[in-house]
Amino acid sequence: MEDFSDIRITRRDLLKVGAASATGVALPAVANAQDAASGTTHGAVTANVSLEVNGKPQQLLLDTRTTLLDALREHLRLTGTKKGCDHGQCGACTVIVDGRRMNSCLTLAVMHDGSKVTTIEGLGVPGQLHPMQAAFVRHDGYQCGYCTPGQICSAVAVLGEIRDGIPSHVSADLRARPQATAEEIRERMSGNICRCGAYSNIVEAITEVAGRKA
Ligand code: FES
Ligand code: FES
Repeated sequence: MEDFSDIRITRRDLLKVGAASATGVALPAVANAQDAASGTTHGAVTANVSLEVNGKPQQLLLDTRTTLLDALREHLRLTGTKKGCDHGQCGACTVIVDGRRMNSCLTLAVMHDGSKVTTIEGLGVPGQLHPMQAAFVRHDGYQCGYCTPGQICSAVAVLGEIRDGIPSHVSADLRARPQATAEEIRERMSGNICRCGAYSNIVEAITEVAGRKA
């Protein structure tokens, strides 16, 4: 058996080893981040992506791994769209792509070349709110507001789906035109989580915009 009794490790030695391994992990991450920001190709594949965002044409050179969410927030500085889980579980990142709602954290920007994207900034502005934004204000459909941009984008698209006759899991008759009932709205909005629990007020706001009695 080997004898390790002569080996002495000081606290200073341990700190040196820790610093060296931390640097080893951190350096590649920094290099990758710099690549993405500058559009260079150190190990990354980039692509030109054309989007129409809130009615404005945008040309971006992106690492092909960039999500639509990061393209909006980090490259176009449209930070109204929120990153909650980054895993498709909370709905905070919902935007409207070519008329359909989408979790922007779950899709790559490069997949939407040529698409029209609407974020919360494109729905309405202070003093000229979209009817859904105004209804959320009237019905207190938020508390901290973090989930609200995603809730509102979802809600706008949900009413579009109902108008287009697209059924949901709770539609009793798949051939009949769905109605904006509270049950339909709750089911269709179930991918948008609100940690503050403003759900009943959110349903009231959407119901009002749908033209039914809240
Ligand atoms: Fe996209 Fe949570 S951030 S679903
Ligand atoms: Fe706070 Fe929904 S208003 S998470």
